[in-house]
Formats: sequence, C-alpha cells, structure tokens
Amino acid sequence: MNNIIKFLHNRRSVTAKNMISNHVNEEDLNNILSCGTRVPDHGALNPWELFVIKDEARFRIGNEILVKEFKLSNPDTSDDDLDYERNRFCRASVVIAVLFKPVSHPKIPQSEMFLSAGAVCSNLLLAAQSLGYAAQWLTEWYAYNPSIIRELGGNPDTDKIAGFIYIGDKAKDPNERRRPNKEKVIKYIVS
Ligand SMILES: Cc1cc2nc3c(=O)[nH]c(=O)nc-3n(C[C@H](O)[C@H](O)[C@H](O)COP(=O)(O)O)c2cc1C
Repeated sequence: MNNIIKFLHNRRSVTAKNMISNHVNEEDLNNILSCGTRVPDHGALNPWELFVIKDEARFRIGNEILVKEFKLSNPDTSDDDLDYERNRFCRASVVIAVLFKPVSHPKIPQSEMFLSAGAVCSNLLLAAQSLGYAAQWLTEWYAYNPSIIRELGGNPDTDKIAGFIYIGDKAKDPNERRRPNKEKVIKYIVS
C-alpha cells in the first residue's frame, strides 16, 4: 500500500473543540493553500475564493460579527455563550473560509461549481491533516448568516460559504467514528 492510500485509509478530523490554537508554519500554510486550489474545476472557472483568517482577525470577526449576529437570533443569550462566539475562530490557529462564487456560464451548471468549492475544502482538509495538523471542515450556524459573506466581500444573494477549514494542533488523537458500510453504499455495475 503506498503512503497516500495509507494516509487516506487512516486520516481523521479532529474536532475544533479538541484543537489547540498554536502556530501554522508559513511553508505548511502555503502548501495547504496550493493543494486547496489545485482541484477539479470544470472549465477552470475558479468559482471560489479562499480567505485565511489568522492572528487577530480570528478574534475580531468573532467579536464584530458572530457576537452581533448570535445576539440578534438569541436575544436572551448568556455572557458565556457570547464569549464562546467571540472566541469561536480562536479555537484554531488558522481558519480558511471557502466562499463559493458562481460565475455565469452557458453550459456548466452552478451545481458543478459548488462541487468544485467542496473539492477545495476537501483538499485543504487532507493537505492539513497530511502535514500532521488537527483539521476540521465546519459550517456551523454562521456559514448561513449573510453578514459573514459580506465580511468576505461576497454577495449573500449569490455566494455561499462552502466551509470553514479549522487548522490547529491536536489536543489528543481522535477516536474512530462510524464509517459507511461499503456493501450498502457501493454497487458494482458489470453488465
Ligand atoms: C459541508 C460540511 C459541513 C460540516 N459542518 C459541520 C458542523 O458544522 N459541525 C460538525 O460537528 N461537523 C460538521 N461537519 C462534519 C465534520 O467536519 C467531519 O466531516 C466529521 O467530523 C468526520 O470527519 P472525518 O471523516 O474527516 O474524520 C461538516 C462536514 C461537511 C462535509
């Protein structure tokens, strides 16, 4: 078995709550970003943009956007909950937001463009995990909040968050999770 197959068989996401926010080496981050943008993309339309949320921006966006939006939907919320929102992005060393930005095309449907944005998320995740980082693909409530799309310069009427890729260090190794029963989800068509 080659190393890539071995890695794909064994890799696991580490949840953001089991991450230690530390430091992502610049060279590693550049490699993760390069792998993230090298994905299947029908027509090479690049219908996505990546935003690297790091350092102070993790706290600022939590404080300015998540707290405000969370309060609007949960007016009776507690100070502890607001603190959680304020520090949500600080669970990771770096969070990469992947914004799906569809482009008009006469033949290529938007659904394919969205799949390509998913492939960006997947590649970012795999690249980070292959370098030994804890990583998780999250959407959580704020992916569906228009303010976060505006913060990233997107248009909430057309653009969508494909995912936030949280990257940090592992507080502990994750347990295995339930995996699909291959017989149930894979069918062979042979004639
Ligand atoms: C599009 C997408 C959004 C996700 N959003 C969340 C989320 O908001 N909260 C969560 O606990 N898991 C979420 N997950 C699931 C985890 O990131 C991850 O898939 C799961 O923990 C198992 O990952 P693994 O197969 O890499 O170990 C999401 C997965 C995908 C594909």
